[in-house]
This record gives sequence, C-alpha cells and structure tokens, in this order.
Amino acid sequence: MPESVQTEASSSVTHPHIDLNSRLQITPLVNHSVPQLQPDPALDIIRGLSQASKTLPAQYFYDDHGSQLFEQICELPEYYPTRTETAILQARASEIASITGPSELVELGSGSSTKTRLLLDAYADAGRSQWYCPIDVSGSMLKQSALDLLEDYATLNIHGYIGTYELALASLSPSILPSRMVCFLGSSLGNLNPQECQVFFDQLTMALQPGEYLLLGVDLQKSTQQLEAAYNDSQGITAAFNLNILRHLNWRYQGNFNLENFQHLAFYNPKDNQIEMHLRSLAAQTVELSTLDLTVELAQDETIRTEISRKFDLGELQQQLRGKENDSNHRKLEPLKVWTDANRWFGLVLCQRSGK
Ligand code: AVJ
Repeated sequence: MPESVQTEASSSVTHPHIDLNSRLQITPLVNHSVPQLQPDPALDIIRGLSQASKTLPAQYFYDDHGSQLFEQICELPEYYPTRTETAILQARASEIASITGPSELVELGSGSSTKTRLLLDAYADAGRSQWYCPIDVSGSMLKQSALDLLEDYATLNIHGYIGTYELALASLSPSILPSRMVCFLGSSLGNLNPQECQVFFDQLTMALQPGEYLLLGVDLQKSTQQLEAAYNDSQGITAAFNLNILRHLNWRYQGNFNLENFQHLAFYNPKDNQIEMHLRSLAAQTVELSTLDLTVELAQDETIRTEISRKFDLGELQQQLRGKENDSNHRKLEPLKVWTDANRWFGLVLCQRSGK
C-alpha cells in the first residue's frame, strides 16, 4: 500500500465541536495522479538497497510511530534545532506577516504543526478567515494536528494533503487568499543532497505565483561535537527513530529485518557538511522484503545510510535560491530577509518568487 493511503487517514472522524465539512478537507495523494512521477513509490527503496553503498530514503522514518519518536527528538536537551528555530520564529513571526500580508500557509512536513501556531497567531487579523494547507506523509499525525488547530483557531480553514512534498507541490489547489507562503521548517531541506535540492527548488518555484513567498528554516554549520551530540542523544531516542525505519519496512513490505541485528550510527561528515545516520549490520545476514520481491545481503559491519542532514552556509544557500542569472529557466526565489539566533546555530530565510 502506498504511503499516501495509510489506513487511519481515510477513517471517518467524529468530533463534537468542529464543523468538519466546511472547515476541514484532507486529500490523500497517490503517485499515479501525477503522471510525471514514478508510478511505484517503492522503487527508491529497491534502488537504494541494491547499490554497493546501501541507502534508504529518509521519508520512510515517518510512519505513525516514527512521527511520534521525531516529536520526542524535538524535545531532547541535545537536539537544539527545534527550540532554536522556534525562538527565531517567536521573535520574527509578526515581521514576517507584515512583509507578506494575508497569505495562505502551506507547510511541507507539517508534523505536529507546533511552530505553525506562531505564524497563525501573527497572521490572525480581526475575524478574517485564514487558510492552512499542511502536507505530511503521516495521515494520523496530520489529522490530529488539524483537529487541534481547528479547536483553537475559530476562523481557520484547513486543507491537508497526505503524501510526499513533490506530489503535494504538484497537486495544490490555487490559493484562496491574495498570497501564499510555503513553509519548509525544521531543516528538512537537509535531507536532500545538492542535486535533489536544485530539483526541489524548481518544484517549489513552480508551485508559487510571482510575488508569493517561501519560508525556509535551515540548520547551520557548527562544531562537530555539538552536531554529533544532537544525533546521539543519551536517552537513545534517535537510535530508536533510526531503527524504526526497518520496523516500518517490515510492516509495509512484509520484511524480516531483525532490529536486534542492527546498530544506530550517527557522525558528521565534514567534507559534505552533513550528519549521516546509518544502521550497521552486526552480522552477515540476508533480509527479505517479500512484497517487493527483494533480497538484501549484508556483510558484518556493512551499513545502510538512512539519512543525510546537511548543515548549511547561509551565503551559499542564498546563491542557490537565487539560481543562475543567465540560466534560461532562472529560478528566481529571491531571499528578502535572513534571521538567525544569537549563536548562529539556525537560520530562517524568507524568499519571494520574483519574475513572471
Ligand atoms: C527532520 C530531517 C530535520 O535531520 O535533524 C532528527 C531528522 N534525524 N534526528 C534532522 C532527524 C535524526 C531531522 N530533520
């Protein structure tokens, strides 16, 4: 079953206080609705596990359990990004709202939508209706967060999409409000390698009308010691999150990964400016994912890289967003403002889609 039609997502909702019909709509997205995308979402898994250096796409961390574990990561003392970004947003949300004016908020990887509340508060404008489009692969997380928001924001309308970023960006309905701001927070951009980043920025540009906005939150380069501590927490939550990807694959594709045979590994790769998470095979072993017809041989100590988390340089990132001036499909995501915390641990970039 593809990610986008996860079981709980389509079950009926009963909630006493909310007129769901008029204020909440949730659309599960399926790959074949966007013909230019690969028809079979599992191809990325097959490809990743068949290579000499094995990898898995990080999006598979986020089944319901993985999304919960990620929420716990955000609270860890060692994991500085979430609280640092939240503090920047707290300080800057009203400035952002006054630059963009009334805008529909689209959030890629909305999760619990906690940080979104800061933006919704800033955009709240005497009884005027607000629009929020959360996008997430975890259907139950999306639905629960949407219900919580509707209880707390009386003039809010929500149209959520269950599915991947690229599917959602290709499927968004036009904004009802005069403008739109796509929010990509929490440094999820760090999961994309430089080439994937280029493609993603192009998809974003196409999803925005000229004059519309992108709010990007990115983790910045800092000491190896601080970075490695953030991905090797003392409570072992990050390890559990990493291993959960195997449990998720077992469930989804009838696999027989034995989690006891793998060890969490996270280290900073200074050459590529990225944290890498791997799962190290503790023995020579053969694993099957039955419904994918896939057999994977692992040597002892061989690793599967499950995530890259790039750490950005704000100058380089702004260059990339602008694109190349003389390129015919010049991207035109113009950075308007950059904010950081006092330690320069985390950055927030507000961009505007320029051109016609
Ligand atoms: C959600 C991708 C930003 O890379 O820091 C947290 C995911 N992985 N701990 C990150 C993650 C391990 C997180 N992102």
